[in-house]
Amino acid sequence: MAKLLYIHIPFCDSKCNYCAFNSYTNLNHLKKDYFNAIKKQFLNDVEKFEIKEFETVFIGGGTPSTMHISFYEKLFKLLEPFLKNTKEITIESNPNASYEWLKEIKNLGVNRISFGVQSFDDDKLKFLNRNHSSALAIQTIQNAKKAGFENINLDIIYSTALDNKKLLQNDLKIIDSLPVTHISAYSLMIEENTKWEKDYSKRKEDEELEIWFIKEIKKRFNQYEISNFGKPCLHNLGYWEHKEYLGIGAGAVGFIKNFRYYTQTNVNEYIKNPTHYEYEYLTNNDIKKEKVLLGLRSITGFEENILNKEEKKRVEILINEKKVFKKEGKIHSHDFLLADALSVYIIS
Ligand SMILES: C[S@@+](CC[C@H](N)C(=O)[O-])C[C@H]1O[C@@H](n2cnc3c(N)ncnc32)[C@H](O)[C@@H]1O
Ligand code: SF4
Repeated sequence: MAKLLYIHIPFCDSKCNYCAFNSYTNLNHLKKDYFNAIKKQFLNDVEKFEIKEFETVFIGGGTPSTMHISFYEKLFKLLEPFLKNTKEITIESNPNASYEWLKEIKNLGVNRISFGVQSFDDDKLKFLNRNHSSALAIQTIQNAKKAGFENINLDIIYSTALDNKKLLQNDLKIIDSLPVTHISAYSLMIEENTKWEKDYSKRKEDEELEIWFIKEIKKRFNQYEISNFGKPCLHNLGYWEHKEYLGIGAGAVGFIKNFRYYTQTNVNEYIKNPTHYEYEYLTNNDIKKEKVLLGLRSITGFEENILNKEEKKRVEILINEKKVFKKEGKIHSHDFLLADALSVYIIS
């Protein structure tokens, strides 16, 4: 079966106050060695797992747009034999990528681009410590369309201390004017190992505002997962359908057969030994739990026949209570936000 491919780029131009991703601003000198390391890991993994092709590719980060186009020329030469039937190749980008870079990356075969816009409000961007302005983001999104991208995602962060209806309304107005096909909207999370660690004053707890904002996004884009709206990203759908994936790069995660495997997060250590993995074994019951949870969080649903008799009985109760529904042998949730509670109830 074809698999998914995730490639992690752990470099950023600046560190955002909220971000706990495996990304660094002071390791640019390692970029060249990084290619050699991911090449080594990739060749090792495709041979070990006998992979002939990938269904989708996702190049994420960190910030993939911090890498020079020559990095991707080499990367796509390496990937080419595995991309004959690949339906979607996504790359994440800061909204400061140049038109030249966008055109070249499109020419290499990337057909979906995801911009970490967060907001179109300059004060909010400064507050988040983003290194782009609203005007630059608008220009870059228009350039992506001009460069030939038909699938454009914007990441938006909401529920920050600066948010209010006026600010978000203005963001929506700008989104309406742009050639965007997808929105990932994330409620700000206060994470450990970030500048904002434990500082909950940076978050705004306003459920009414959140509900209003999500409703406004849903008027414009179809919700297909808790945080995702618009034309579905096939790669993410693949994760939620519990397909197998390779995770290439420092701190990447892969999932093959019953094993989840983790590479080293430290970029220097990863470069020294890119095929050093830690493995986590998942029992069939762990996998079943994940399939139910991920399936209920998104439009993918889950196959009813993975459940035992007792679990199926509980699903029938939920169908009667109109919490879930059955379609073509799959169980779907009416409300993705209830996925956690429903999955615990089904597999208790
Ligand atoms: C890897 S970044 C996207 C690409 C690029 N690094 C950028 O930021 O422009 C993934 C996205 O995760 C979201 N994110 C990261 N940390 C978050 C947090 N603490 N709370 C909510 N969303 C977060 C942001 O919207 C961010 O754009
Ligand atoms: S949000 Fe994106 S640009 Fe900001 S530090 Fe995280 S990965 Fe880097």
